[in-house]
Order: sequence, then structure tokens, then C-alpha cells
Amino acid sequence: MSFSYSKESIEELRSQIDIVDVIGRVVQLKRAGANFKGLCPFHNEKTPSFVVSPQKQIFTCFGCGASGDLLGFVKRYYNLDFSEAVEKLAGEYGINIQKNVYNDDREKYYEINREAARFFYRSMTESANAGYTYMKGRQIEDATIAKFGLGYADEKWDSLYCYFQEKGTDEKLLLELGLIAEKGGRYYDKFRNRVMFPIINTSGRVIGFGGRALESAAAPKYLNSPENRVFQKKNNLYALNLTRQDIGKEGSAIIVEGYMDVISLYQAGVKNVAASLGTALTDNQAKLISRYTKNVVLSYDADAAGQKAALRGIEVLRGQDCRIRVLHVTDGKDPDEYIKKNGREAFVKLAAEAMPYVDYKLEAAKRDLDMNSEEGKLDYMKRIKPVLNELSPVEADLYIKKIAREVGIAEGAIKLEISGNTKSTRPVSAERKADGQQDGLSATEATVLKCLLTEPPLTEDILAAENIFGCQLARRVADIIFELYGTKGDFDLAQINDLLEPAESEKLAAALDNVVIAGKADEVLTECLQNNTLRLLREREKRVLDLLSLADEEANADSARELTLELMEIQREMKAHGGKKHVK
Ligand code: CTP
Ligand code: MN
Repeated sequence: MSFSYSKESIEELRSQIDIVDVIGRVVQLKRAGANFKGLCPFHNEKTPSFVVSPQKQIFTCFGCGASGDLLGFVKRYYNLDFSEAVEKLAGEYGINIQKNVYNDDREKYYEINREAARFFYRSMTESANAGYTYMKGRQIEDATIAKFGLGYADEKWDSLYCYFQEKGTDEKLLLELGLIAEKGGRYYDKFRNRVMFPIINTSGRVIGFGGRALESAAAPKYLNSPENRVFQKKNNLYALNLTRQDIGKEGSAIIVEGYMDVISLYQAGVKNVAASLGTALTDNQAKLISRYTKNVVLSYDADAAGQKAALRGIEVLRGQDCRIRVLHVTDGKDPDEYIKKNGREAFVKLAAEAMPYVDYKLEAAKRDLDMNSEEGKLDYMKRIKPVLNELSPVEADLYIKKIAREVGIAEGAIKLEISGNTKSTRPVSAERKADGQQDGLSATEATVLKCLLTEPPLTEDILAAENIFGCQLARRVADIIFELYGTKGDFDLAQINDLLEPAESEKLAAALDNVVIAGKADEVLTECLQNNTLRLLREREKRVLDLLSLADEEANADSARELTLELMEIQREMKAHGGKKHVK
């Protein structure tokens, strides 16, 4: 069987799959500046000269000269031909790759959309029209209209339809693309009296349209192409085709809500922007943007809906390991209004000062609370608990200090408050199964591992700790850590995950996510070890007490005396480890 893949399919594959992820599965990669480094899989080496660039999506080995892109790597590493490599990746990442016949079909859709975009653009630019007047009223320049290919759909019912009739275009395709509709056997244009924003994907194909009504009264304000074979809102960001280079150059992307926000910012000279097409940011949009930068500034509308969307966007971007900041415009309802009023400089300054997302969330938690009242402060603590709980120990520590200063609550109290009722302080023994073989990680186990990941040298502190891990997965992770630390003196989560099954990695990630290390990692670890020692002593104490009562029952004075001595010894040790005397 012979077939070919369209350029779009391959492009789609490339946009959805990160080369670092693919190579990271078979080569232990370590971050080195903007890139990743590891031992070259194509020749023998002891020091890493194999470099993977997440930005350029390529790999290269400075030792043997091997280099290539995502598919190049897969072909070479797994010894596959091109289509086998495509199939393998598409299969593993669950991406639907369409083959020739189907693709020719998609070509037709793109072509029709392109024709329509040209038609609308001519209407906008060739003679006076309401759309042009409207855009001028919004201070949009001719050059911007040209850059974004903005168009105008006139008020007639069949302008576009007649145009395509003459060309002999199949109505079925126009219907599917949502350019026309049908009623009682008659066709009519869907977009009428609207400014048209062509939506173009990163391979330069017109995939759909947004059409803005000219009068504020007309509903809906925006009419968008329906989802179809070539248009999936959730997979695209508006204007990324134009701005991805600027995003790369700038090293950051500003994500806004609306078409008009992108256009205004771009015109004003802020070009590293894209819009999430009015939806809350989706996973695929986050993936897409993180291909170009991991530095994302969310700049949503000032209203409640916009701020809610920002909070959701944060969570989605966190999934892509992005550095996320939030720019909240206060003068004007959206970035468009803001930059028109205040100019480029002011906006750039706002962007530079945009809050790290944690600060933003902490700030958002104050909403509607009277922070001067006791009640307000208590509610605030409740709200920020989940925010703090998902931070790394160091971050948590920094923020707790800050909050303590701001709100006027003692640091220690905040720590107690946020760790109260969470897994991290639940009594360890309660979580352990009797046989010490429970299937999930206990909070203590997760905390210990998290401490080690934060500060790998702490591994030395747990070498001597006895029986600290009851759960099989925790023991396995600990073994990997000992191995890596012993051979290389260092490790990170990625290296550990490399040696785990995906399901195990997932479990581990979930467990680590569940604990917060409030304080210094070494102190937290010491506390965990202390608790572990106490737990072991308590178990011993219980065993000895059982034996003692048996000895008493049997009136075995000798062994009773021995057991009593042992009990005293245990209790002395418990006291030395800060444990209370055990009460039966
Ligand atoms: N949107 C939509 N359908 C609507 C309203 C909004 O698809 N009925 C999407 C559009 O992509 C729009 C974005 O949500 O660009 C943001 O909405 P809004 O802030 O209302 O639009 P702006 O682009 O800011 O447009 P304008 O400045 O003209 O109000
Ligand atoms: Mn807006």
C-alpha cells in the first residue's frame, strides 16, 4: 500500500509533540540553559555532547554530528522509515493522522476559505464600506488591515454565495465550512455586515473566520466558523501565524482574549501576542504556545469573566510547565482599550511588572473579603491553603513569609493552618497497612521524597534511616535515588521518571503534588526522620508491652524483668526523640 501524508498532518504532528518528550523517553536529558543535554544515543560517549533544543525542536550531537528534527530522531533511533516514524508517533501520542485521499479533501476546504478571505478582503479595501469605516473608527490602520487580512462581509444576503456559484464551488463544502446556510432550499450567506477576521494556522492555512457585528446592538457580537474538518477552536491561537517569530525573539508570549486585543497590541508594537479565541485556554492551546516559549503572560479582560478565565488558564499552563504571570489591566476593560488610552510604553511596563501567578492567585483570594477583620483573615487562610499547598518548599516558605508580613499573622500559625488536615501531618501510622505494603505513598514518604528532590544531597541523611519506606513504589523510587546519587552525586525527577513505568510516574507525581514542604527541606526531613524513628519505637513498645503482659500472665518473673528493662530503654529513647510517653 502506498500513501502520503499532507504537509498539514505532519505539521500537526510536529505542533502537538515535543521533541524533548520523545527523546527524553530514551535519553536521560538534563536542562542546560535553554536546551537539554544528554549522552548521545548514536555513538559511545562518557560526557554529554548531545543537545536537544525545545525551541527549535531539533537535536544535534557535537560529538558525532548526528542531528535532525523530531521525525529524524525517531527514524534514526528506532530505525524506521518516514511513514513508520509518523505512524509510531501518531499512535503513541493519540494524534489522528490523515492519509492522502482524506487530505486532498482538506486541501479543498483550505482553498475555499482562502478564496473567501480574499473576497472579504477585497470588499474591505477596494471601495468605501461600513466595515472599513468601523475599523477606522477604532483606529485601525490600513497596514494593520493588510497584515491581518481583515475583511468585510457586506449586508447583502448572497454576495459570497454568488461569488462561489460563479466559480462552481460545491454548496456542500460551503455549508460545511459555515460560510453559507440553507433554508427552504435556498442558500444564503452566514456572515453579513460584519468585519471578518480570518483565522490562520501556523502553516499559513485559513481555517476559519470570526465576524464582528458593526452595531453594538446586533447579536451575536461575534459569529465564528463552526467546528469542522479544518477548524478546531481548541487547537489554535489567533494570530500565532504572524506572531510566533516575535514570541520567540521576545522570549515570552502575551495571551489575550479577543481578536481586537491582538490587533491593537500588534499595531501598537507589542507583537508577541496571540488570542485564545474567546474560550478559556485549552490544553492544546497551552501545548501549542509552549512550543514557542514557556514564558506566558495572561492578559485577559478586566471583568469577572476574564479574571475567571485567567485562573483557569493558569491551571492549564501549569500542565505545560510554563512560567506564568498575569497582567491585570485596570484602566480600561481590556488590553485593547488600555493600550489605546495609555500607549505602548505603559503596556510594556505593565507586562514587565505582571504578577507571578501565585501572587495573582493570592491576590484574587482576597476578593470580597474584609482583610482587616478576623473573619476575613480566617477566610483568606482557607482560600489560600490550596494555593500554598501546591508550591515547592522553597516557594511556600517565601510566600508564607510574605503573607505573614502582609496579613499580620505569625508565620508559624500560617504553616500550621495550611498543613492542618492535609495529608502531610496526618499521623503516619494511620496510613500504613499492617504489613507495611500499602499500595500508595504515605504523606511522610511523599514528603521525604520531595525533600530529597529539592535538595539531593539530603540523600545522605536517609541512608541510615531504617524502614522509612513502607510502600513498594516509594522503596523503588528510593532505590533509584540511591543509585543515581551514588553514581552521579545528583538526580532530578525526570531522571527518576525515566526509570519508572508511566503509571508509576503518575502515582509518584500525584503523591508529590499532595504534599507541601513548609519550611527548609533539611528541617522538614529531620522532622520526618524523627517521626519515623518514633513510629518504629512505638511499634516496638507495643510489641514489648504485649510480651510483658503475657509474661505476667505466665508469671515468668525473669522474662518480665528483662522486658521491663527493654521497655524502659524504649521509652527513654522515645523521650530523647521528642516523643511523649506512650500511654497504654
Ligand atoms: N467571542 C466569541 N463570540 C462572542 C463573544 C466573544 O467568539 N459572542 C470571542 C471572540 O474571539 C472575541 C473574544 O471572545 O474576540 C473576546 O470577546 P470580547 O472581549 O467581547 O471581544 P473583543 O475582541 O475585545 O472585541 P471588541 O473590542 O470589539 O468588543
Ligand atoms: Mn474585548
